[in-house]
Amino acid sequence: MQFDEKTLQSRLTGRRIGCRLHYEETVDSTNRVAMELAQGGAPEGTVVLADRQTAGKGRLQRSWQSPAGCNLYLSVILRPAIPPNDAAQITLLAGVAVAEAISAVCPERVGIKWPNDLLIGGRKVCGILTESRTVAGGIDSVIVGIGLNVNMVKADFDPAHRETATSLREETGREHSREDLLVLLCERFEPWYEIFLHDGFAPVREEWLARAEMAGKRLRVLFRDEVREGLFAGIDRDGALLIADEQGAVRRITAGDATIMKG
Ligand code: BTN
Repeated sequence: MQFDEKTLQSRLTGRRIGCRLHYEETVDSTNRVAMELAQGGAPEGTVVLADRQTAGKGRLQRSWQSPAGCNLYLSVILRPAIPPNDAAQITLLAGVAVAEAISAVCPERVGIKWPNDLLIGGRKVCGILTESRTVAGGIDSVIVGIGLNVNMVKADFDPAHRETATSLREETGREHSREDLLVLLCERFEPWYEIFLHDGFAPVREEWLARAEMAGKRLRVLFRDEVREGLFAGIDRDGALLIADEQGAVRRITAGDATIMKG
């Protein structure tokens, strides 16, 4: 079933997030559309939603599987008055907000893998891609793209992801309303964003750490051609990943792909 744009807009009652809804049945990427709307002056809180993406983007130049009729693909336009270096903190904030929304419908623990993959039982249910636009050295807009696997079933996943990805339906044994989830998501995003604007990153960091899937685990982190291994040692005040080597020396990693090692 398609989204009913009018009903959905009337249910998005937050002051900021979802104050405007831009819905298109098919887009290449909601992040691309949101970036274009942001450049055209779309207000903070505008949500771009699509039923299907033909070129859904993932982190690190990957693609995001985006079939019609079953999942959520959305991008939120933010215009925070923060230094460009702090934009990465919004990525973690989004992870916390979406984890809370998912937890409202799924009794299993929803964990976060740095920077912001949401996992249920170790499988990825949601990915978040944050992209910023800077103008004259300042942030003009931050686009938070969220892909949440809602009603996809195992057989629908690309074979390469079948064992590592999951959906809410697979985890809870029932179908979920995408509309209800979108409303929930905006409802959880708004207070976290306001906390961040008023009190900074510290409260977000605390909640993120409480959901960290990596606590006590060994990690392998790949960035470009470099591989680093070590014990998860938290995230710092900027949201960078900290890993400790055998000697206890702590390294700071600002971007990359982390794998949780078994055993
Ligand atoms: C990742 O885990 O690699 C991030 C995936 C982000 C996918 C979402 S779907 C909505 C938005 N539009 C995109 O093109 N990508 C993000």
